[in-house]
Formats: sequence, C-alpha cells, structure tokens
Amino acid sequence: MARAKNAKTPKGPLVGGREMGRVLITGASAGIGAELARVFAKHGHKLALVARSEDKLKVLAGELKSEFGTDTILVPADLSTAKGVTAVVAALDKRKAEIDILVNNAGVLEVGPFCDTPTEDLMNLVNLNVAALTRLTSLLLPRMVERRFGRVLNVASLAAFQPLPTMAAYAASKAYVLALSEALSEELRGTGVTVTALCPGLTDTDMVAGVKARSTTAASMPSILISDPKDVARQAYRALMAGRVIHVPGLPNRVSAAWAQVTPRWLTRTLTGFAARRTDWSKRV
Ligand SMILES: NC(=O)c1ccc[n+]([C@@H]2O[C@H](COP(=O)([O-])OP(=O)(O)OC[C@H]3O[C@@H](n4cnc5c(N)ncnc54)[C@H](OP(=O)(O)O)[C@@H]3O)[C@@H](O)[C@H]2O)c1
Repeated sequence: MARAKNAKTPKGPLVGGREMGRVLITGASAGIGAELARVFAKHGHKLALVARSEDKLKVLAGELKSEFGTDTILVPADLSTAKGVTAVVAALDKRKAEIDILVNNAGVLEVGPFCDTPTEDLMNLVNLNVAALTRLTSLLLPRMVERRFGRVLNVASLAAFQPLPTMAAYAASKAYVLALSEALSEELRGTGVTVTALCPGLTDTDMVAGVKARSTTAASMPSILISDPKDVARQAYRALMAGRVIHVPGLPNRVSAAWAQVTPRWLTRTLTGFAARRTDWSKRV
C-alpha cells in the first residue's frame, strides 16, 4: 500500500469503495507516536497529528510529505485538559476531516514513591493517560459506528497487567486503558469497528531515557529488554489492521504478560513490591 517517493497526488487506502478517512495520532511528535505516523504514512494513509510541540510536528509532516507524499493536518494541542481535546475535534470538523482510525498514544509516566510525587503531576498523568483517551474515543467512536468502519488503537503498556509499586498511577492508568479497550472490542462486535490495545514493554524513547536518568537500577537494564520504537510501531500497525484485541510486542514481553495473567495477584504484587524496594529513585531530573 506504500506510495511512490514524492508522489504528487497521494490517495489513501480504500474501504468499502471509498477512500479511507484520516488517521488521528496523539503524541505524534516523538517516540512511538512519531514511528506510528511513519508506518501509517508508508502505507498510504492521510494523517492528523496531535502533540503540544508544533515545531516537531511540522518537521515530521515535512519528512512524510517528501518521503511518501503524505497529506497531513497538524493539530497542536495540550490534551491534558478537556478544552484541549474538544479543540482537536473542533479543528478536525472545521477541516471536514473524517477520522477512520484513532490512535490514542499520548501518555506520560511518573516514577518514584507516590507520596513524593507532586499531586499536580499525578493528576496530569490521569488527565492525559485516562481522561483524554476516554474523551477523544467518546467523541469519535459514534461516528465510526455510524459509518460502519473504524479502527481504534489504544496504547496501553505491559504495566497494564500488574500493579507496579513506584509506578502506581501509571500502571493503574494503563490497566484502565487495557480494560476499556477489551470491553469496547466486545461492545462493538459486528459494527465494523475494532479496538486494539497495544501493550509495549520498555521501549527506547524519551520516556525511558527519563526513567534511566532517575535511577541507576533502571539505567542498568539489559538492552535486550528494551524494544525499538520502529518495530513496536510496525507490529502495532499489523495488529490494528487485523483487528486484534490485545497485542504485546516482543517475546520476552509476551512471556511476562502471560505470567502476570496466571500468577495469583498477591504473588505478583509481592514480587513487584520487592523489585520496587530495590530500585533507587533518589535522583530527580
Ligand atoms: N517508552 C516505553 O517504554 C513505553 C512502554 C509502554 C507503553 N508506552 C506508552 O506509549 C505511549 C508513547 O510513549 P513514548 O515512550 O513514545 O513517549 P514519549 O517519547 O515521551 O512521547 C510522548 C508523546 O506524548 C506527547 N504528549 C505528552 N504530553 C502531552 C499533552 N499534555 N498533550 C498532548 N500530547 C502530549 C508528547 O508530545 P509533546 O511533548 O510535544 O506534547 C509526545 O509526542 C505512551 O502512552 C506510553 O505510556 C511507552
């Protein structure tokens, strides 16, 4: 489905005889979101990219335009507020941009003891990882159901499968994303709309660089356990288009997710608690 380099009049893939609508990707200015944008562009999709850093979005859109001829709308916004989310949908409506694929990728991580984390940082995490994802899905999903086609990719995490002391709010937010995605995938059965939860393990992005900067224990993590964001994005695309409900990229991560699902909760939280107590989060960035 990839377009020729420097294609002059790009056309997206077809669905039911019509050209597929745009792919809306949140958190597209960096990391997994930027790689997802590259994968969708390579497959000929039109894009709408959201993040706060307009400059980074412009650079990415320029790259995708010259490489694949991608038609991209930029919607710079802070999704941690309800106003930011509704402004994105209003901007898309103004451009008459139909969203056939929604990628809820924007997210933040807070590490360290809960009591040492500023309340506002915790609330920012909940607002972005949980509230923005829910609001955007709620605003766009009914339109997909009406058109009888749609794909939603919710970026959860391997952290969704277990409680993680010292990443308590983050893991809880991702458990919400996973549970919401699974429930919606059943609610939407037969509608032509599918929901996929992507559950990556540690992936080499700024988010992980931030964790490594906070802790020598995290910094000594073997590189074999850290995924390449390009690979995560490629796998995510395949899982989404195939309508898979849950995708965990990478064999070690799949083993870890499977283990968490068959282990009694008391044992999982005891082990993650033990690991957390051995982690030094004393450095602040
Ligand atoms: N990296 C990992 O190990 C890993 C593992 C599992 C799951 N994940 C999940 O994967 C997703 C992407 O993570 P990543 O590692 O790619 O992170 P990243 O490199 O830090 O990128 C985060 C993206 O979210 C955007 N963002 C942050 N706050 C925002 C806000 N208030 N409004 C709008 N956009 C905002 C950032 O753009 P601006 O700063 O320009 O706004 C950026 O584009 C997250 O949901 C994360 O939880 C990551």
